[in-house]
Amino acid sequence: MKKTITVIKGDGIGPEIVKEAMRVMDRVAEKFGHTFTYQEAAAGGCAIDQYGTSLPAESLEKCLNCDSVLLGAVGGPKWDNVDPAIRPEKALLTIRKEMGLYANLRPAKLFPQLASASPLKQSIVDEGIDFLVVRELIGGVYFGKRETKEVDGELKATDEMSYSEHEIERIARVAFNTAMKRGKKLISVDKANVLDTSRLWRKTVERIASEYPQVELSHMLVDNTAMQIVKRPSQFDVVVTENMFGDILSDEASMITGSIGMIPSSSLGEGTRGMYEPIHGSAPDIAGTGAANPVGTILSAAMMMKYSFDMDAESDAVEAAVNKVLDQGYRTADIYTEGTKQVTCSQMGDLIVENI
Ligand code: IPM
Ligand code: MG
Repeated sequence: MKKTITVIKGDGIGPEIVKEAMRVMDRVAEKFGHTFTYQEAAAGGCAIDQYGTSLPAESLEKCLNCDSVLLGAVGGPKWDNVDPAIRPEKALLTIRKEMGLYANLRPAKLFPQLASASPLKQSIVDEGIDFLVVRELIGGVYFGKRETKEVDGELKATDEMSYSEHEIERIARVAFNTAMKRGKKLISVDKANVLDTSRLWRKTVERIASEYPQVELSHMLVDNTAMQIVKRPSQFDVVVTENMFGDILSDEASMITGSIGMIPSSSLGEGTRGMYEPIHGSAPDIAGTGAANPVGTILSAAMMMKYSFDMDAESDAVEAAVNKVLDQGYRTADIYTEGTKQVTCSQMGDLIVENI
């Protein structure tokens, strides 16, 4: 197969982790007889420096004309005070919106080799952590009307949160379909005791549930969910929630696996084209030191193969290689513990390539 991939390296550790993921993809292409062609697109802080905007039109064009997008990370303190309209994060939000990527899948899965890295008590970890957060990605308060204006002699800021039924229906279907392929247990998270958007969310998810009689659906309030994730994470299989709740809960979920650097994500819309990125940020403090962990990005590339290119064997080969390297005791700085072998970002890439 021939696939064109738009590559956004971004800021901080972005370029170094994406480089390793591309080497892994090249190895997969060589082994399985595919051709991956990369087109680089500038976005984020580096694009602000070079073009005066975090998302040049040409970059967006490349995202809309490819088979999928692989992204490293964008942003950093250097651009904290730029105009909100051109902030690095704005590039990410615009790409998501313009590509129609309403479903963001973020797995929270403990690698057994890294169990001791979890901040949770061992007895809780031993019950198992393996769930998936399905986050609505192009609606809610992130994309509502916003303004800051003077009212009665002081500034007043407003961010509007809205959801319409079709936005809830489509993400609910993704969640139910995902649950069907996993443990058939879906927890829909909302704040229906307070918010209208949540009440509509709950009602709509329940309506869609009738199409999926095999899935066991329950509802959980978002504050309670935040608590349950650290109290008994083993109860979760698939979690579906709106944009901002999903943003917050997915950070919490990733942290309890002890290895935010290991976790990939996929963002999909109606077609097969998606955007794939590690869930961690650009970590400017360690950029260029070799301390970055490329595994989250490498596993994101593996997700791309599976979900967008229908390359299951290829994706499995990458995951198996990652597991093998962990079994052999190799660790990047973020997951290093005594008795294991510390390697740099590029050495980790080498090891995974060698094992495919
Ligand atoms: C994420 C990030 C983004 C978000 C930021 C960078 C805009 O936190 O992907 O979770 O809030 O969606
Ligand atoms: Mg986030």
